[in-house]
Amino acid sequence: MKRAIVLGASSGIGQGVARELVKEGYRVGITGRRTELLEKLKAENPENYIFQTFDITDITTSVNHLKELVDKMGGLDLLLINSGTGHRNEALDFEVEKPAILTNVLGFTAIADWAFNYFREKEKGQIAVVSSVAGIRGMRFAPAYGASKAYQINYMQALRNKARNLNLPIVISDIRPGFVDTAMAQGEGIFWVASVEKAARQIVSSLLREDEIIYVSRRWRGMAQLIRLIPRFLYEKI
Ligand SMILES: NC(=O)c1ccc[n+]([C@@H]2O[C@H](COP(=O)([O-])OP(=O)(O)OC[C@H]3O[C@@H](n4cnc5c(N)ncnc54)[C@H](OP(=O)(O)O)[C@@H]3O)[C@@H](O)[C@H]2O)c1
Repeated sequence: MKRAIVLGASSGIGQGVARELVKEGYRVGITGRRTELLEKLKAENPENYIFQTFDITDITTSVNHLKELVDKMGGLDLLLINSGTGHRNEALDFEVEKPAILTNVLGFTAIADWAFNYFREKEKGQIAVVSSVAGIRGMRFAPAYGASKAYQINYMQALRNKARNLNLPIVISDIRPGFVDTAMAQGEGIFWVASVEKAARQIVSSLLREDEIIYVSRRWRGMAQLIRLIPRFLYEKI
């Protein structure tokens, strides 16, 4: 039986992906800070879920929690780093920026580094992150969120280079959603909003194909290209 861990599976995209992976026959490790939601997901299929509660921003303990979960699962084939946060912050209040930096940058990096070294030793495996189309170009209304997602995109590219350079068959997948209907995607100005179920199905089929750059829903690939191509003088007026 293949084994996957989904970090941040207590709600939203991560929960949907965990369910899809179970449908695909995976044993799935699920994590997050909200134990009661992890327990609820496990109750849907107690044989195939195993959970561990931890906060990825606590980098003194996060890797140990992850190791413990991997041990309980008897090994790991796929790790999805989906835990993430971010808020609109027109006022540039640092307290609003901080959770995005701690979660999407600090917490993410500690986990990604451990996972790469784990799979390096095994000489195979797959690491995926849920970054965002928001990481393509700076965003005035949520600067830390956009920048933290750009960091993840860049970091995954670095890990991909590293795997190729070491001649290791470690697959590095970067999932870049546009908008998905979750607690995080609220407010005005959102469009092309995918349901969690649709997003999860697309993510899992792409991960199983070992795709490296994954847009969800698929039409966001064209939008990401457009965002890149808008001349700077125009982009800065948006
Ligand atoms: N929804 C969108 O439109 C959209 C678009 C692009 C990218 N994304 C990305 O998709 C990912 C999932 O977000 P979502 O939309 O599904 O929202 P969500 O329902 O709020 O899910 C966020 C998940 O991350 C976990 N998490 C957050 N902070 C954590 C921490 N410090 N330690 C451990 N787990 C933590 C949460 O679990 P606990 O609260 O239980 O800890 C939850 O399971 C995020 O990385 C987000 O940036 C979302």
